Amino acid sequence: MDGQKRHLKGMRSQCRQSKLRQFPEEAEMTGRREFLRNASLGAGAVFAWKYLSLAAPVTSAESRIEILLDEPLGVISPNIYGHFAENLGGVIYDGIWVGKNSSIPQIDGIRKELIEQMRKIKAPVVRFPGGCFADSYDWTDGIGPPDKRPRRTNFWANIEPKDSPAAHKFDPNQFGTNEFIHFCKLIGSQPYLAANLRSLPAQSFDRWVEYCNSPAGSTTLAEMRAGAGYPEPFRVRYWGVGNESWGCGGNFTPQEYAAEFRRFTAWVPGYGMELSFVASGPNDDNWDWTRGFLEEILRKGPHELQSIYGLALHYYAWNLSRGRTRDWNEGKGDALKFDAVDWYELLRQGEVIESLIEGHWQVMGEFDRAHHIKLVVDEWGPWYQPGSEATPGDILEQTPTLRDAIFSALTLDIFNRHPVEIAIANCAQLINCLNSLYLAHEDNFCVTPVGHVFDLYSAHQGGQALRTMFSSPQLHYDRDGKPATCTALSGSASLNGKELVLTVVNRHVSEPKNAEIAIPGAAVRTASATVLTHSDIHAHNTFTERNVVVPRTLTLDPKGTSTSCSFPPASVTRLFLSLV
Ligand code: AHR
Repeated sequence: MDGQKRHLKGMRSQCRQSKLRQFPEEAEMTGRREFLRNASLGAGAVFAWKYLSLAAPVTSAESRIEILLDEPLGVISPNIYGHFAENLGGVIYDGIWVGKNSSIPQIDGIRKELIEQMRKIKAPVVRFPGGCFADSYDWTDGIGPPDKRPRRTNFWANIEPKDSPAAHKFDPNQFGTNEFIHFCKLIGSQPYLAANLRSLPAQSFDRWVEYCNSPAGSTTLAEMRAGAGYPEPFRVRYWGVGNESWGCGGNFTPQEYAAEFRRFTAWVPGYGMELSFVASGPNDDNWDWTRGFLEEILRKGPHELQSIYGLALHYYAWNLSRGRTRDWNEGKGDALKFDAVDWYELLRQGEVIESLIEGHWQVMGEFDRAHHIKLVVDEWGPWYQPGSEATPGDILEQTPTLRDAIFSALTLDIFNRHPVEIAIANCAQLINCLNSLYLAHEDNFCVTPVGHVFDLYSAHQGGQALRTMFSSPQLHYDRDGKPATCTALSGSASLNGKELVLTVVNRHVSEPKNAEIAIPGAAVRTASATVLTHSDIHAHNTFTERNVVVPRTLTLDPKGTSTSCSFPPASVTRLFLSLV
């Protein structure tokens, strides 16, 4: 994997190696001993039952969760529960596309179990085909009769191991625009296509829009689409205009990119529908990119803001070096081998995304006072060093554990708490890559703990986010001799009619957290809780043991307007509370 290291080192700009927020450290600590769980706790299910209960408030509740029904924050767009599928390693070929002649259960060449799972989680939007791959992709290679489509060197070919499947190195173009749109239709998602700004002209972008959206029978491209079995327009609304244009997407300065963005998006035919263009935005805390881009866009006049639907923010949590290095290759941790300190460090990095959302939003407001432009967090998740691949040789694949489920839950809670700022978010990535919801190889498949979190959290989609106050003591740990702290309890709440959804994360590796739940002005009629946890913080699902980390549901006995709940250590809980 040396090649991979070299490549990524080049690909990542210094933005990713620097400047992330420093954490406040405090004096009191608990040590590594906290990591060791009581072996007698047994399996995850028993563990959850042991702790979870809903009872009359107890004076011993150390934490309080107050849900303010009269403080709505905005409607949670289903699109913040979006996905990302790049033509990279085992994501498309093997993960999604198995081929029409495959004996693996499939629908029109697309893995059937994946379709079923994605319907279940109400997947709202999928971004394709990259990522860095997007700025090397010619969409015309992926249309027309499949047996006539060319084979092309994949953007990621240089870091593919020698013996990896040919389709991973040389793109057979069997999964192109038609197949992707068909996949979206099968799962009930909207497509979000990322266009090539680095290596194709703006005209090619116009033509891709024409291929997708021009009315039946109107143009040669519409007829080609019909020839593939799709006479009706695909009506693709979301278009990414380049990807990471500060790096693999062209190495532009924000000013250069802004000029390109204007050129690419000027007068793109709409075919009777509104197109939503997403500009390539900052990496992490690169405020200069956001500022430089918007400044240059505005140089042409305030109306230029109207052409931008969203600004893409990418954020990966990767540095588990505990402050020793900011080097992208040296700083990464292991997906499966970690201690309690690594657990807390990763989760603290997860929390950073909130400050990035708020920081970039503030900068955007300096140029776009009405906040016409929204944030599109179209890549997020933890990124570990190679070594935990479910299918050895699959580049950038890692095995998500309970830690990644907690990370994903706290990230989704942050998105829920910012419904005005965030229009779309896409977890990187859907299958066989980074923070995968699913792992698959040939006829093997499993839902990862991250996939289960998306299932639990789908209940928030379209709900009215409510201001929810969590007051809970910080937890303390020893960061290589230095005291460090981490939030213990956090979450989000949303309301749909009289149905309240409350999601709560307890980050503590070994202590349950009691919290009083107060909903001033309402009483709880019925309540149920679904918990994702395990007695081992490293727990994960595999092809042979698919149900190690799975959610468990129990009905609770609510007591009046204020109840208390005990959240198990290292857990994600979703509560359904029917209000009267
Ligand atoms: O998700 C993997 C890669 O990470 C994407 O291709 C790129 O956009 C980002 O740097």
